[in-house]
Amino acid sequence: MTRTDPIDWTALRTEAHRLAEKAYVPYSRFSVGAAAITSTGEIVRGCNVENVSYGLTLCAECGLISDLVARGAGELEALVVVSGSGEYCSPCGRCRQILIEHAASGALIQTAEGPQRLVDLLPDHFDVTRLEDG
Ligand code: THU
Repeated sequence: MTRTDPIDWTALRTEAHRLAEKAYVPYSRFSVGAAAITSTGEIVRGCNVENVSYGLTLCAECGLISDLVARGAGELEALVVVSGSGEYCSPCGRCRQILIEHAASGALIQTAEGPQRLVDLLPDHFDVTRLEDG
C-alpha cells in the first residue's frame, strides 16, 4: 500500500512533541521526540532513552525505526524530530544513516527552513550498492 494524502506536518509535529515528553533523559535533560508517517499510512514514534553508561543512550530516531520495523509499517515518507521545547532537532550522524536505510525515495524531514529530502542529510552515504565493491 502507498499513501497518497498530503502530509499533515502539524499533526506529526504535535505527535513528536508528545513523544519528547515521554523521553527518559535524567543525564542530559535534553528530550527528543520523533514521529513519522509511513508508506502504509501508519504513524511511527520514538523518544530518546538514556543510560547511566552514557554511550548506550538510544536516540529518538532509533526508537522510531524500531517501531517502524516491528509494525511492518513499510518505509518512512515524512518525519518530524523535535526537542522538548518543540524546536526541530537535526538528527545526529548515526541516526541519519539509520533513517535513510528505511526511507522511501523522496522521503522528507521537516526543518525550520521547510521540508528537506532525508537522503540530502547524508551525501554520499554508505548503501547496499557499496557492498558490491568489497
Ligand atoms: N539525541 C537524539 O535522541 N537524537 C539525535 O539525533 C541527537 C541526540 C539525544 C541523545 C541524548 O539523549 C540527547 O539527545 C543529548 O545528546
